[in-house]
Amino acid sequence: MPDDELPPPVVEIVNRLRRAHTDERRRIARDLHDQVGHALSVALNSLELHEVYLHSDPSRAQEQLRSAVRAVRRSHEAVRTLCSNLRRREVVDGLEDALREYLAAVTPPAIAWTVTVTGDDSRLPAETRDELFLILREAARNALVHSRARRVEIAVVIGPDAVLAGVSDDGAGFDLARHGRTGGLASMRERAALLGGSVAIASTPGTGTAVRVRIPLGEIPDHE
Ligand SMILES: Nc1ncnc2c1ncn2[C@@H]1O[C@H](COP(=O)(O)OP(=O)(O)OP(=O)(O)O)[C@@H](O)[C@H]1O
Ligand SMILES: [Mg+2]
Repeated sequence: MPDDELPPPVVEIVNRLRRAHTDERRRIARDLHDQVGHALSVALNSLELHEVYLHSDPSRAQEQLRSAVRAVRRSHEAVRTLCSNLRRREVVDGLEDALREYLAAVTPPAIAWTVTVTGDDSRLPAETRDELFLILREAARNALVHSRARRVEIAVVIGPDAVLAGVSDDGAGFDLARHGRTGGLASMRERAALLGGSVAIASTPGTGTAVRVRIPLGEIPDHE
């Protein structure tokens, strides 16, 4: 569908996604140039010198050959690292483990937390699990960092048609009208929207915050 037929909020999301892709391509180009390209040019240089010294100084020629092998090995290693970084998934052992691991690592001892996941998350497409994890992690991080909560709860229910997830805290709450256009709250909404879903936030100063996420399963609806 051409951009001018999409509603403005969707165009904005598509534009941000394009910018993110451009940034990612630049990062990959930088890594290829600085790591792989550099090691390969050292290898090429050493091989050329190997040829130069082959008859006049065989031991120096031998040393250039060894240097070329080392450089090719380095570039091979750099390609492997780049590929595995590109393929890295956020959620490797399931959503519940990933959320628990995160909360166990970052929650101060004075804050109690719970994570419950109901339903089979292996049914979810890997992208949905990764994105949902990033949304819930940001909501949990906000609760831990901003709310002065004593309790943070994450609950995920994987149903037949949709995933419903919530992050709630009993902290200070905040004024929604003053936040959410940029930063973590905006990116939570964008991630959900890209999966055809939505984020609803209820927050009252003094009584805490509840973030609710809904991601439909099956076809992502067409934005008309
Ligand atoms: N659970 C929460 N309890 C209290 N305040 C919150 C909560 N979640 C968000 N806020 C408020 O909303 C603001 C915006 O949150 P948002 O995640 O968009 O940005 P941030 O956390 O300040 O920075 P970033 O996520 O970009 O690192 C926060 O600075 C905080 O004031
Ligand atoms: Mg945040």
